Amino acid sequence: MDFVEQLKSSVDIVQVIQEYVPLRKAGPSRYTGLCPFHNEKTPSFSVHAGHQFYKCFGCGAAGDVLKFVMEIERVSFYEALKLLAERHGIPMPKRSEYSDPETKLRAALYQIHELAEQAFRANLEGAAGTEARAYLQRRGVAPPTAAEFAIGYAERSGRSVVRLLEKHNFTAEQMEKSGLVLKREDGSFYDRFRHRLMFPIHNESGKIIGFGGRALDPGEQAKYLNSPETEIYRKSYVLYNLHRAKQGVRQADRVVLVEGYMDVIGVYSSGVREVVASCGTALTPHQVQALKRHSTKIVVNFDPDTAGANATERSINMLLDDGMHVRVVELDGGLDPDEYCKQRGAEAYVAKLNTAKNYFYWLADRARGKFDMRTAEGRVAAFQFLLPAIQRLSDKLERLAVVNDVAGYLGVDAGPVLESFRKTATERREKTIQHAAEPVRPVERILLNLLLINAEARSHLLPHLKRMPAVNQFATHRIFEALFTLDESGSRLVFGDLDARLEENDRVLLASAVLADETDGEVFSLEQGEACMRALESTQRDSERAALKAQVRAAERDGNLIEALRLSAELSRIDRS
Ligand code: UTP
Ligand code: MN
Repeated sequence: MDFVEQLKSSVDIVQVIQEYVPLRKAGPSRYTGLCPFHNEKTPSFSVHAGHQFYKCFGCGAAGDVLKFVMEIERVSFYEALKLLAERHGIPMPKRSEYSDPETKLRAALYQIHELAEQAFRANLEGAAGTEARAYLQRRGVAPPTAAEFAIGYAERSGRSVVRLLEKHNFTAEQMEKSGLVLKREDGSFYDRFRHRLMFPIHNESGKIIGFGGRALDPGEQAKYLNSPETEIYRKSYVLYNLHRAKQGVRQADRVVLVEGYMDVIGVYSSGVREVVASCGTALTPHQVQALKRHSTKIVVNFDPDTAGANATERSINMLLDDGMHVRVVELDGGLDPDEYCKQRGAEAYVAKLNTAKNYFYWLADRARGKFDMRTAEGRVAAFQFLLPAIQRLSDKLERLAVVNDVAGYLGVDAGPVLESFRKTATERREKTIQHAAEPVRPVERILLNLLLINAEARSHLLPHLKRMPAVNQFATHRIFEALFTLDESGSRLVFGDLDARLEENDRVLLASAVLADETDGEVFSLEQGEACMRALESTQRDSERAALKAQVRAAERDGNLIEALRLSAELSRIDRS
């Protein structure tokens, strides 16, 4: 068995996918959940433990465990292999046959980031880190917290990362592409981060992919300097702290979104484990997708300044478009989340989160500030300001309820608006892509399931099945043909290999026969398979008989009695057999 097969047979696809997507058991070996690859509200994503395969009946994403890791982590085949092997403690063969130049570059960049992180942490603990340690203490970050978040310090010299990477023999290209060093006109390198507190940024599986560096000198023009986009750091996909928070997000069934590194650290160390930040960029649809895989409920808690309020407003719209349930916290005293936790304590902060108001009240309060609420016109204008956000709610009943609430809150008559909403509501049904699958009969389902899983059934049934004309009448006949071909070539008969040989239409059919609801992961027995064969044989006989009877009648009509007699004899022979 080659390494890929060995790996695939020693990891459980359900367990791997469950790290990213909450799954619910839907049958003996089938699980369902919300598809991580497209936006949906009802689960059409299915994972089959027996076939070690996943399939989304909404967007068509499908594959084995390696394909899943490649897609969700956006990595190459080799990296997916490596990631799974590492997580499951399976040693990788040394050969680099799977790696291409891009993969090698990324591997070097991960290594560079690991080394840099260690060096920054050593700096913070050493003599050079006195000022940075004092700063952390002033900001109330205790040493264990600093260690947990792997906070470090980048020295003033501007040469230490360069020296470190040179010592480890990284190429000039690798150094430059790491984003941690910059190139001068003369081709020499210097450190990007100098005299800054360093916050490592991780991807969802916990690998360091970049840094945020906070200036220690108040005079420094950029308070934060972040890593640039690199081969391993795609900013629009990353949320700070998600790799630590995802467990907490699932437990609490909500995510708390804050603005800054320091907010995450303050809030997290107060015991609120479900907190992430978007690292100073506007929230992107990719980030929302990443969150949504763990919970559809979000509490937005940005800084209580104009920038924070504007970012909140933008994020609300983005989140609503993706069907998230949004609440907003506004902290009193002009405090940001970090300061609030420090000054008022964790309990007070958690109480704020738990009583966070639905986003439209927050928007309504904002509207009150923008319009003259003493006049009827002002109130109507405020209401109109809110409507687009309410209209984004995809649930009709919720939308109507919210309109009523908000109208009451602002003191306007919701009647006319409700009327126009009722009209548009009927036009805005939820759109889900449904592939119209051809009908697959129960015998086809049972046989396919059985042949893919049960070796004994294969050796008993396949030889007969191959000779049966009834197979040609199956909706799935091309799938059976591919299966016969696979068998004859001596290949393994597993779902993934069969799937790989099919055209798209047949893939959909195969998935619906083997992975879909109706089958529900049932495990069929050889006896059931044999019963299917008998049923097929008897329908086969029935149709032969019907054809012969028709021929007999035709011969009699034509007065061809000899032919009629011959056909009748054949008919009774079939009846006897
Ligand atoms: P904040 O200024 O609120 O940062 O910016 P903070 O984390 O609370 O830091 P302290 O409390 O001032 O030390 C929020 C986030 O915006 C990004 C950073 O990701 C920061 O955490 N940011 C901010 C930048 O990228 N560059 C900047 O110059 C400022
Ligand atoms: Mn702050």
